Amino acid sequence: MIGLGYLGAVHAASLASLGHDVVGIDVDEARVDALGAGKAPFFEPGLDELLTQVGGTGRLTVSTDLSQVAGARVHFVCVGTPQRTDGNAADLRFVDAALDALAEHLAPGEIVVGKSTVPVGTAARLAGVLGTTVPGAVLAWNPEFLREGFAVKDTLHPDRLVYGVPEGPAGEQAVAALDEVYATPLREGVPRIVTDYPTAELVKVAANSFLATKISFINAMAELCEVAGGDVTRLADAIGHDARIGRRFLNAGLGFGGGCLPKDIRAFMARADELGAGDAVAFLGEVDAINTRRRARMVELATEVLGGWVDGAEVAVLGAAFKPDSDDVRDSPALDVAARLAELGALVTVHDPQAIDNARQKEPGLRYDRDLEGALAGADAVLVLTEWQQYRDLDPERVGRLVAQRTVLDGRNALSRSAWTAAGWQYRALGRR
Ligand code: UDX
Repeated sequence: MIGLGYLGAVHAASLASLGHDVVGIDVDEARVDALGAGKAPFFEPGLDELLTQVGGTGRLTVSTDLSQVAGARVHFVCVGTPQRTDGNAADLRFVDAALDALAEHLAPGEIVVGKSTVPVGTAARLAGVLGTTVPGAVLAWNPEFLREGFAVKDTLHPDRLVYGVPEGPAGEQAVAALDEVYATPLREGVPRIVTDYPTAELVKVAANSFLATKISFINAMAELCEVAGGDVTRLADAIGHDARIGRRFLNAGLGFGGGCLPKDIRAFMARADELGAGDAVAFLGEVDAINTRRRARMVELATEVLGGWVDGAEVAVLGAAFKPDSDDVRDSPALDVAARLAELGALVTVHDPQAIDNARQKEPGLRYDRDLEGALAGADAVLVLTEWQQYRDLDPERVGRLVAQRTVLDGRNALSRSAWTAAGWQYRALGRR
């Protein structure tokens, strides 16, 4: 397993738990040290338990030394493909570097499996490179759909497995190897789709684009509800009952963030442009714009409830992670709103059960409090921006005794409006009266 981030670490531990002998490689020593000691290098529910479980079996070893992969039959590439700093396209330098370094240790007949999310066409290009450096090695593309917070469950019990393989005997060899790797989920009936490279690459970005579109659709309806006096949560319930639409991923609020959806839709637009098909996914630009407008709307709402002026106001921000059950702050809507309010002069204190260290690195100028009551003390407004269960469970009466003003903004439509208003709070939310 080359790359031990959210994807690779979980995949490595999961495959070890399924009975495979796994060697995990990463350039980050701290990450390798943590995993070597059987500890998750980031917060991911269930990962520590899984590492403890596989620790006893000796099936997972980790190293910073890539030569340790020699002799493995299947090599997974799980490195990141972040957004380039000079535009929307994906930065493929880690994938290219991993393939280059790996080539030195490969033997004919071994299978290289790309899992990273890449622009369509990358697998064919890499297969060409591999064909000249290690003739007889086979490349497959096996996109990963895990969600942070559910990564262990999603890896052990995926919705589907997708294999992008070349035609002919090489492809059959890759399919056989992947079937062996995923024997347990396949036995449990997980659907398997075998296809070509471009389709496999597109499946991943198409799925993420659809999910992002679904979220932005409901957030666009939230904008309408705001001006028309409607309630987007009731609207989502009502349209969600139509099985063709479905209620999942229709939670209106601050919108999507994280290391995948935002950068994946942007990279998709950039790649489609390169292929001369930019018009086909131009709507994703609107999806992105709707998404970022929600953050601006939250800042506007905070300004409004604070009397038109946030300068000097004490604001408690609950949540820094891009979503609950994660310590990831990449493109976090919550942290973005906190930073914008601080820029406008608000005295922002951020609480998060897991993401404070990462948040502090990204936004060192904000105040952080690991103690929830400390963060709430004296607040003129409380903003719930990531829907951690512990915030959903807050007792409005108790919180009311800590704050200066009973004003709460529910950025994720996660609180009970009736309970908070009954306790004398001014309750405001995105997409609701
Ligand atoms: C996503 C995809 O779900 C996953 O399949 C892919 O492999 C990687 O990208 P992830 O980024 O972990 O996973 O988070 P996800 O649960 O999809 O949430 C993404 C963002 O959308 C979060 O910021 C979340 O708060 C937001 N969201 C999600 C909403 O605003 N409303 C919803 O209804 C659902």
